[in-house]
Amino acid sequence: ENVTVLDHPLIQHKLTIMRDKGTSIAGFRRLLREIAHLMCYEVTRDLELQMIPIDTPMTEMMSPTIKGKKLVFASILRAGNGLLDGMLDLVPAARVAHIGIYRDHETLLPVEYYFKAPSNLEDRLIIVVDPMLATANSATAAIDKLKERGANNIRFLCLLAAPEGIKRFGEHHPDVPIFTASIDSHLNEKGYIIPGLGDAGDRMYG
Ligand code: PRP
Repeated sequence: ENVTVLDHPLIQHKLTIMRDKGTSIAGFRRLLREIAHLMCYEVTRDLELQMIPIDTPMTEMMSPTIKGKKLVFASILRAGNGLLDGMLDLVPAARVAHIGIYRDHETLLPVEYYFKAPSNLEDRLIIVVDPMLATANSATAAIDKLKERGANNIRFLCLLAAPEGIKRFGEHHPDVPIFTASIDSHLNEKGYIIPGLGDAGDRMYG
């Protein structure tokens, strides 16, 4: 599987506070935004640059900018929005896709209720964000939809991934690399990540 664990000490430190059940909703939300800054930095570190001419107050020069079309951030609602906010702090010109999917609590199957994405997804880097990769049903369905609309360069960013989800995700979307802050132990019988951090949507929004 194509998985990168983002092991920067600040990411790991913040994740520990987020896992702690004593952390408040306000604290969790702030930490998610901060950790998104650090993860965005890591997931974009290999983007290609191109040189453009600019005028400084002193002189002309050639200076690097990110090459190609604007990035697209695709948030899987609800909890993806916590990561999205932080990503947009660092890349304010990024385009945004919103994908409404929740898990049916009984079947764990994804239920889709909203999809809105920029029209031209081809040849753009699309970073799909959701804090949790559990069964991977949600992420897999979200990426199916993006690919149906032409997406061909996708990365998936999450806080926690379960081994079961990584395996399933890799079978469906072997071309999509996963970036995560942690690979946790396993899923419990209800499909929750163990040890995990609980339900990310509830911890963010109540
Ligand atoms: C959570 C989480 C992911 C999904 C992960 O969302 O944010 O989207 O479950 O599980 P999966 O990998 O097994 O599909 P949830 O269904 O709780 O929706 P919410 O964010 O709207 O609360």
